[in-house]
Amino acid sequence: MYAFSIRLLMMLSVLKLISSRTEFTNFKCHSLDTDFSEFEYCTLKAVNRSYKYISTKIILHKVPITKVKVKFGLYKKFSGYRPFLYNISVDACQFLKNQKTNPAMSYFYEFFRSASNMNHTCPFDHDIIVDKLSTEFFNHRITKILSFPEGDYMFEWHWIAYDITRAIVKLYLTLS
Ligand SMILES: *[C@@H]1O[C@H](CO)[C@@H](O)[C@H](O)[C@H]1NC(C)=O
Ligand SMILES: *[C@@H]1O[C@H](CO)[C@@H](O)[C@H](O)[C@H]1NC(C)=O
Ligand SMILES: *[C@@H]1O[C@H](CO)[C@@H](O)[C@H](O)[C@H]1NC(C)=O
Repeated sequence: MYAFSIRLLMMLSVLKLISSRTEFTNFKCHSLDTDFSEFEYCTLKAVNRSYKYISTKIILHKVPITKVKVKFGLYKKFSGYRPFLYNISVDACQFLKNQKTNPAMSYFYEFFRSASNMNHTCPFDHDIIVDKLSTEFFNHRITKILSFPEGDYMFEWHWIAYDITRAIVKLYLTLS
């Protein structure tokens, strides 16, 4: 499935409609269980036309957390958002120990790693922060590393701790 996705992406990347510009259009964070975790903030900020970023802070009430699963889905808007190429589910604790085990997840994790304090192995015993992750950084990874066709996309994460979905984070962006 992964090999297939890569092939498909390579095919798409030779098409003409390859994006060169990324805009964040919305950023939504939703806690399903506020006794477990809460978002202190979840912001999309435009400093000026060229500098836009997202930031979030998740307060974890039941630390340490030793069992985390992450489901990641990429969606593209056709008429409504539809699953697009990637639907990945990983044991985050295993993944953080050895990121090579899942190259697709690794690609998407790299969007956040440098802007977050998540770059360590389990357990998680502190609040989680993503600080000023900019469109510029996204743009580089989306257009230079893998090329995605133009359009509206949504990155969706489900955070699952001890087999219960605790939070859902959605980032909407437009590639033009
Ligand atoms: C936008 O804001 C950033 C950060 O303050 C600054 O470095 C950059 O020069 C600004 N760009 C423009 C076009 O004003
Ligand atoms: C992702 O894959 C799982 C397991 O194969 C499936 O149950 C789920 O419906 C899929 N989600 C999307 C959005 O395609
Ligand atoms: C953080 O990420 C870098 C780059 O992938 C890696 O080399 C480093 O070992 C990571 N640090 C920890 C504490 O996991």
